[in-house]
Amino acid sequence: MSTEKGLKLVDRDESGVDTAFRADVLAGLAQEQKAVPARWLYDDAGSQLFEDITQLPEYYPTRAETQILRDQGESFADMIGEGRAVAEFGSGSSVKTPLLLSAIAPAAYVPLDISGDFLRAAAADLAEKFPGLPVYPVEADFMRQVALPSDVTDMPKLGFFPGSTIGNMIARTAVDLLRNMRETLGIGAQLLIGMDLIKDERQLIAAYDDDAGVTAQFNTNLVRRINRELDGDMPVDALVHEARWNDDNARVEMHLVATKDMRFTVDGRAFAMTKGESIHTENSHKFNRRTSNMLLLAGGWEPQARWLDKEERFSLILAEARPPRSAP
Ligand code: AVJ
Repeated sequence: MSTEKGLKLVDRDESGVDTAFRADVLAGLAQEQKAVPARWLYDDAGSQLFEDITQLPEYYPTRAETQILRDQGESFADMIGEGRAVAEFGSGSSVKTPLLLSAIAPAAYVPLDISGDFLRAAAADLAEKFPGLPVYPVEADFMRQVALPSDVTDMPKLGFFPGSTIGNMIARTAVDLLRNMRETLGIGAQLLIGMDLIKDERQLIAAYDDDAGVTAQFNTNLVRRINRELDGDMPVDALVHEARWNDDNARVEMHLVATKDMRFTVDGRAFAMTKGESIHTENSHKFNRRTSNMLLLAGGWEPQARWLDKEERFSLILAEARPPRSAP
């Protein structure tokens, strides 16, 4: 597999610094409310810490979604049918993806990921578990419209976007992605998407502020990454993890809160924070039936079916890209 026409997905300068990382951090730290896009949490250490998070007793989303995939195989088979090309947005999880593929007997599997390494590992794992299933990995930024391999052009498509990753995006970005997915997959395609549910605030906060402190490590890893990769001297021990429920926006926010007044430099630029000020590092939006339907419709997807886990903590929604028609 090769990167599309030599087009570089990650741009590095002469000293090996990811130029998009530097631009996002410098711009974000200069804002009134300091903020760094959540995608930068996921370097190798951050990705491993997120894997650890999925095993925590407080972090229910992974277990809840996996339970739905285990329990609802027959309904998926009924609603989706056999012979689709499954396009997964992001490298497949070694547990969730096989559960879906076993339930629906697809004609092909097309994982899309910006990281070639993750992609190749996931594709190889899948090919081993499903001998005979054609696997066509695509190294691409799935936030944009992607040209799928010509091998799957004539197959009906199913997009798969588990994990409530859509919840990391503000509505405008989520709608852009959903519309691009519609272009990528085409009219007639289905989308199976995971969306975490609004629930008791204490349960939500516990999931993002666990007793073992793994989520705190995941959040503060961003500070360590900035110091290492962008020649920063941010005081790691004086920036502490906080999970906040933002009720107006129905989301859990992660912040790094300054425990004292501080000055630091990143990439030669000076910044200051006063005690109590924060850097906003992640949003995790939560949904109910109406808000998830509204978001999908805004992105061009008509909800067809919705499944919850037994404890009604998490939803998997099946939606369809219907042809445009005139309606009131
Ligand atoms: C990977 C985006 C689904 O928002 O629940 C977990 C990331 N952040 N704990 C989420 C995350 C803190 C996770 N997603």
